[in-house]
Amino acid sequence: MAETKADGTARKGIVLAGGSGTRLYPITLGLSKQLVPLYDKPMIYYPLSVLMLAGIREIAIITTPEDQDQFRRALGDGGQWGIALTYIVQPAPEGLAQAYLLADDFLAGSPSAMVLGDNIFFGHGLPEMLARADARREGGTVFGYHVADPERYGVVDFDAAGTVRAIVEKPRVPPSSYAVTGLYFLDGTAPERAARITPSARGELEITSLLESYLADGTLDVQRMGRGYAWLDTGTHASLLDAGNFVRTLQERQGLQTGSPDEIAFQKGWIDSAGLRARATKFAKNDYGAYLEALAAGRL
Ligand code: G1P
Repeated sequence: MAETKADGTARKGIVLAGGSGTRLYPITLGLSKQLVPLYDKPMIYYPLSVLMLAGIREIAIITTPEDQDQFRRALGDGGQWGIALTYIVQPAPEGLAQAYLLADDFLAGSPSAMVLGDNIFFGHGLPEMLARADARREGGTVFGYHVADPERYGVVDFDAAGTVRAIVEKPRVPPSSYAVTGLYFLDGTAPERAARITPSARGELEITSLLESYLADGTLDVQRMGRGYAWLDTGTHASLLDAGNFVRTLQERQGLQTGSPDEIAFQKGWIDSAGLRARATKFAKNDYGAYLEALAAGRL
């Protein structure tokens, strides 16, 4: 079912949805952070939609051992969207780069796109930006986004000519205002590179160390995601509510969904109108179901 690319290997996807979400306690005492609602859909629908927009149909969902059942209930095997979901356990939260070790067998040498399960992207031109990243079959592509609080993220260090010198994880004095977003397009060498990095002072295999490995080889492309994009934070109670309100505002104004795997699957032809209608029927009691019904009936 994977879409074959020019070099014969389809890019596979990873959604990293581990972690204990302690900053959202008590909400996340009994529910994984990435399943918390963002207005009308579970949070993970949004990053999953990004991978689907990139044309990716084989996706691994990495979760804590305790949370895996919740994700299986929420997302199933992906057949409802014409994609294949695989579930992988991260026994302990030992860093973002560990995902590539855990997903090594799943990837089987394929290039990948990994998205963090709590990262929300919105913007005109996103599909084209994803297509450009996908088209680079060797090396990696990450996205730099201007934020008010770069010290909370991996930060891009540019030299005077605008060339990327380094990426620094949570620097006390940020070298720029460009944070590296949680969306990583890497080639098939990511797992072997991840196996070579050493844990940081906080005991984690840092994604920035993995990116540094590409940077050292001169194969890391850092794309700036301009101000016409929204990259939203969901890490605190207030930012979670703000992100939900952002989605609600857009959807109510436009009468269009954002972050709907159902709509993307239908638009890509991965499910037909009968498949979409089956989903609409499941959600017949709410506006999301009505939207899918309208889409299936060609009324949108
Ligand atoms: C992680 C990465 C960081 C990146 C961020 C994006 O940080 O380590 O480089 O900028 O995700 O969301 P975390 O939020 O896990 O501390």
